Amino acid sequence: MAYLNIQQLEWARAAGFALHGIDLQVGEHEFVGLIGPNGSGKTSLLRCAWRFSQPDAGQVLLDGQNLWQQTQRWSARRIAVMQQEFPEDFGLSVQDVVAMGRAPHKGLLQGDNVEDLALIDQALQRSGMQLHATRTFASLSGGEKQRVLLARALVQQPQLLILDEPTNHLDPRYQLELLQLLRRLRLSTLASFHDLNLAAAFCDRLYVLHDGQLAASGTPAQVLTPQLLREVFGVQALVDSHPLADHPRITWITQA
Ligand SMILES: Nc1ncnc2c1ncn2[C@@H]1O[C@H](COP(=O)(O)OP(=O)(O)OP(=O)(O)O)[C@@H](O)[C@H]1O
Ligand SMILES: [Mg+2]
Repeated sequence: MAYLNIQQLEWARAAGFALHGIDLQVGEHEFVGLIGPNGSGKTSLLRCAWRFSQPDAGQVLLDGQNLWQQTQRWSARRIAVMQQEFPEDFGLSVQDVVAMGRAPHKGLLQGDNVEDLALIDQALQRSGMQLHATRTFASLSGGEKQRVLLARALVQQPQLLILDEPTNHLDPRYQLELLQLLRRLRLSTLASFHDLNLAAAFCDRLYVLHDGQLAASGTPAQVLTPQLLREVFGVQALVDSHPLADHPRITWITQA
């Protein structure tokens, strides 16, 4: 059974944009990528998947349960999100920001216990930020902030991770480190990407959004064809096989 199961989702905005007829599944331990041009609806769809935007029709099922028939706390105990934009930080330290990830598991006035502190420490180590624990979040670089937000998502101990362009601010080494870490965690993961070569290298399956509708889905090799790249992204590309691995490699040529 798919851990996340989106069925016939509809979500429309007065301004004219709509997500239409979306069917998307993420299996247990599966790493699924969401790709598509700017404005195609990736962030909007991810928001429906983490119970931020309520769909107008269709269903979002998590572990077989309708997300909108459950409380926000129920979903926060199961889904962690790394958004495209950085949150307001109100002068918090790195340690404080990461500790916020424990909130869905605790009572209102309950402080961090030994177990919480161990989880926070472990997450800071995994994201390579343990030496910066006492810095203010605001003083970090974009890539460092992204790694702290990953640590916050990890201490939430989710079953489903939703990531909106997680490699956006990262240098090549941290892009690889983050994606390798995510694969090792073996959570159910749904992540949007603009770097299609990274998506090809790390995702089990891809969904392609175009003007609010799904244009294709399947393995990277099934989806990333020159024809699809031309039709959806408007770019001519050479697609061959990666010389060192079993996935496609895209070389951009020119605008179609
Ligand atoms: N709350 C809203 N009200 C009106 N329009 C919206 C709203 N949210 C998103 N949109 C519009 O919906 C479209 C899809 O936006 P979305 O952010 O989902 O795209 P995206 O695929 O994530 O793009 P990008 O690659 O630039 O991040 C855009 O045209 C956007 O302006
Ligand atoms: Mg977006």
